[in-house]
Amino acid sequence: MPPPRAPGAVNRWLLRRQAKPLLFAAALLPLAWLVFGAFADRLGANPAETLIRSTGDWTLRFLCLTLAITPLRQATGWHALARLRRMVGLFTFFYALLHFLCFAWLDMGFDGAAILADIPKRPFILVGTAALLLLLALAATSFNRAIKALGAARWQALHRSVYAVALLAILHFFWMRAAKQDFDEVAVYAAIVAALLGWRLWRRLRPVLRRGADAQGR
Ligand code: HEM
Repeated sequence: MPPPRAPGAVNRWLLRRQAKPLLFAAALLPLAWLVFGAFADRLGANPAETLIRSTGDWTLRFLCLTLAITPLRQATGWHALARLRRMVGLFTFFYALLHFLCFAWLDMGFDGAAILADIPKRPFILVGTAALLLLLALAATSFNRAIKALGAARWQALHRSVYAVALLAILHFFWMRAAKQDFDEVAVYAAIVAALLGWRLWRRLRPVLRRGADAQGR
């Protein structure tokens, strides 16, 4: 299959100086909406639950966006998307941290001992915490100095754990909804994550399968 033709207009737009600040502002809109909702008393009957759940939802959405950048770049030829990947990834961590802070504050009253006791008690909290800690490691090593310090190969191996984060996040969501057997949204996100990880697997396996087919044809 020939590589997709580079759609110059989109690439040119993505390379403009305004692209990053615009994306930055857009990524803050969910937070602005929640802050507005809190002050305007528009977060529904249970504002604490809305805040915890909405920040969880936005973490998962940003995670899917982060995972979508490479497949989108490869499928469309919008190679300049690569320069936005780090920012989208950092926003995933930002919303995950907010999600954790909402839980720690609104559910646990910032009681450190109670939070630590809750982590091993509830499997979905344990899995969420594992995902958050992995995201912390990725965010802390997302800068050029960390790439130099770790070396490209080790850095890449570490950053592949974003796939583990995605699987843990789906498991967290699944376990959280298991009590009410309400899996509709979980299934949608699981399908998105499966498609994004499946694309990567297919790209990796394709040359191997092609070599196998060529060898058989000889
Ligand atoms: C990458 C990390 C994480 C992701 C992607 C994530 C995502 C989610 C999602 C999608 C929901 C469901 C929202 C809904 O029902 O609409 C949720 C709920 C929740 N998460 Fe997380 N989460 C993460 C980490 C954590 C951590 C570290 C904690 C706490 C230590 C946590 C605690 C909770 C709680 C308490 C709920 C709500 C439970 C309820 O309302 O019954 N999450 N999370």
